[in-house]
Amino acid sequence: MLTVGASLQIEDNTKPAEPLKEAKEHVPQNDPQFLLMDAVTETVTIGTLPPLHFLNETVFEKTASERTDEENILSRTSEQRSDLISGVYEGGLKVWECTYDLLELIEKDGETFGGKTILDLGCGAGLLGILALKRGAKQVHFQDYNSTVVEQLTVPNVILNCQEDDKVDSDDEEGSGKGKIQEKFGSKIKVKEEKDVEEGSPAPKKRAIDLSEQPLLAKCRFFSGDWSTFLALVKKEDPQPKYDIIFTSETIYNTAYYPTLHETLHKLLSLGGLVYLATKSHYFGVGGGLHLFETFVEQRGIFSLDHLWDGEEGLQRHVVVLRFKMPKDT
Ligand SMILES: C[S@@+](CC[C@H](N)C(=O)[O-])C[C@H]1O[C@@H](n2cnc3c(N)ncnc32)[C@H](O)[C@@H]1O
Repeated sequence: MLTVGASLQIEDNTKPAEPLKEAKEHVPQNDPQFLLMDAVTETVTIGTLPPLHFLNETVFEKTASERTDEENILSRTSEQRSDLISGVYEGGLKVWECTYDLLELIEKDGETFGGKTILDLGCGAGLLGILALKRGAKQVHFQDYNSTVVEQLTVPNVILNCQEDDKVDSDDEEGSGKGKIQEKFGSKIKVKEEKDVEEGSPAPKKRAIDLSEQPLLAKCRFFSGDWSTFLALVKKEDPQPKYDIIFTSETIYNTAYYPTLHETLHKLLSLGGLVYLATKSHYFGVGGGLHLFETFVEQRGIFSLDHLWDGEEGLQRHVVVLRFKMPKDT
């Protein structure tokens, strides 16, 4: 049983059954063409933000049998038809909707991230970190629970966005895309594009990436693993990284993870830094949500939490910001 606040008690039945994943750093090894092989890409454009490109989640279902997946999450998620298997797969293979809420807020707010150090915590596809990278961040670190997500989605997405935008655009003009589907939701435009892949064409060869040719990629680091072991790993570094901005979207669904999440934010946020957290009010079937997390944060007494945006439609969604309490606040 986990006690959250004086009057709230939650059944702590969400603890993962399997041992938590040990953290490790991933250094991109493969040629971009190899990582982007058979790619079905999407591009999301929100107002004046630079377009963000990412691999469509269906590619993993279609090509699961051809992919190396030591964690065995690709087959498990499609067999179990599950977006989340606690302690095994934490949902990073698709873009969750609160990511778009936070992108829209950044668009309105005008934050540029110039010269800042950024952590995209629980990054999945990594769109938030990628935006910061494209807008001039000094360094962007991406962390996801699953190594498969980092290697097969986050890294390829960063590479996709590091390639010059006009390369992607000129490919479109030449009509090399097999098919394009455009969807518009408010200020957000999503374009899904299937690339031509010739039957029987030889698979591109793996080559090491030359980081000198990828200046944006050279500003990035990638980590997988549970938050507690990720924190232990980066704390060993000298100097220990501290981040001006930590993004974390759709990561507070499981109350069992609140202590390690809070500790990670506490130890890795720089003084004066900001945590942008995007979330639903409640996660049915898992139990967590904003109210429980707010109560938890309040009890710990380390951060103040302010609402930046509260959605009103359907299942409510929110964007909040956490910052260290000033001595006068405590
Ligand atoms: C629902 S996904 C959201 C992915 C992405 N932020 C988005 O909005 O599309 C939750 C993410 O939180 C991360 N996560 C959840 N629990 C974690 C834990 N205990 N340790 C490390 N990462 C965790 C996973 O990496 C996972 O990708």
